Amino acid sequence: MTDPRLPPDEIARLHRRADELLPLASLVRDGGGMPEAWTEALHALADRLGASYPFADPEYLGQMLKPPHPVAWSGYAMAMLLNPNNHALDGGPATAHLEREAVAQIAAMLGHPTHLGHLTSSGTLANLEALWVARRLHPHAAIVSAANAHYTHARISEVVGARHETVPATPDGAIDVAALEERLQAGGVGTVVATLGSTGLGRLDPIDRIADLCARHGARLHVDAAYGGFFALLADGMEPGVDPAPFAALARADSIAIDPHKHGLQPYGCGCTVFADPAVGALYRHDSPYTYFTSDELHPGEISLECSRSGASAAALWATLRALPLTRSGLGAELAGARAAALALHAHIRDLPGWSPVIDPDLDVVCWHADLPTASAVGAASRRAFAQLAERGWHVALLELPADALGVEPDAPMAAVLRSAVMKPEHLGAVDGLADALTALRPALGD
Ligand SMILES: Cc1ncc(COP(=O)(O)O)c(C=O)c1O
Repeated sequence: MTDPRLPPDEIARLHRRADELLPLASLVRDGGGMPEAWTEALHALADRLGASYPFADPEYLGQMLKPPHPVAWSGYAMAMLLNPNNHALDGGPATAHLEREAVAQIAAMLGHPTHLGHLTSSGTLANLEALWVARRLHPHAAIVSAANAHYTHARISEVVGARHETVPATPDGAIDVAALEERLQAGGVGTVVATLGSTGLGRLDPIDRIADLCARHGARLHVDAAYGGFFALLADGMEPGVDPAPFAALARADSIAIDPHKHGLQPYGCGCTVFADPAVGALYRHDSPYTYFTSDELHPGEISLECSRSGASAAALWATLRALPLTRSGLGAELAGARAAALALHAHIRDLPGWSPVIDPDLDVVCWHADLPTASAVGAASRRAFAQLAERGWHVALLELPADALGVEPDAPMAAVLRSAVMKPEHLGAVDGLADALTALRPALGD
């Protein structure tokens, strides 16, 4: 086994699952009688998976990931017994309809009961579809995103052949609205990309103010809500909640990317793109001599840049939304649990001597650093704490931020801070332990 990081009981459970799953893995026959080599391969796999970080545990709050909901996983596995392809109704007649229903629910949550939308393989692809449409509609104009946006937007612009420009972010990690306004006034901007839940700090851009600016200057508004979109379920003024204003303004966006494989509890391979104007579907028009024969209805591939796409993703999402509807008490309860845990961790860090939060969290991303005077000392302390927490079984992440955003002496341009994606309700029972670990660590940080 290479470098085991999973606790032994979880590795043992993976081995048991290997024995349980293989007999279930065919729709045309039941039971055992599988060749020995197949079982051996799965046990070898269980060993290799032992090198994963313990993503399911409350002590894992590192990257933006967690295992899917049991209904999502089971629905995925069930549909995978057929392996449908949502390119066309020919390859995924059942799952293409499930996709349309699931996307309609998500679009309604985002304020777009009338829409054109579809699932994608990722948030990157969901954003790519939106920026491809943006470039088709404004071929010579710039796509503008801010320094807090995901790096993908600059790259995607290159891929779709659009000119990309970056406007600054504020020190607390949101788009700089004044700088954006100045750029829009100068002309030549076709599309503004705003972020609802930035990857680094989980920050919400003021979508309402950005929508006003876009309307005034005739620019399209694309909102990258890959991470934050599902928090719309908590944007109702109740506690634990999130600021309702940017979510209410989603209804004014021209396009939105949202990732069911982040806060929608789905396995990877499930992004979603939503357009406010169904007429953009005309931009996708193409002939396929191979598909689109079994039905006169619109096939997913006719409104999507990807061809083959997992029908099992749509099945998993549909089943999850049936079990956990897009309401505060449905899927919202999961997000509320995560938000409550994040606020509890933030409160601890605010009160711990020697540590400071970077910002008050807008969602469930919590970032903090040691109280040290220079960027280089802060960065070194973060890296040390990251390693020492891992040795004690706590898995967090790091984030590089401009030194001036932290108000420390900028002896280096950037400083690493500690970052955690507090995505699971189970974290609530763990944050006291993390605070204790940080207290114990503090004396060692200045070494
Ligand atoms: C705001 C934002 N946009 C886009 C992406 C890229 O999404 P994916 O990793 O699903 O391609 C991410 C990923 O974390 C993100 O946080």
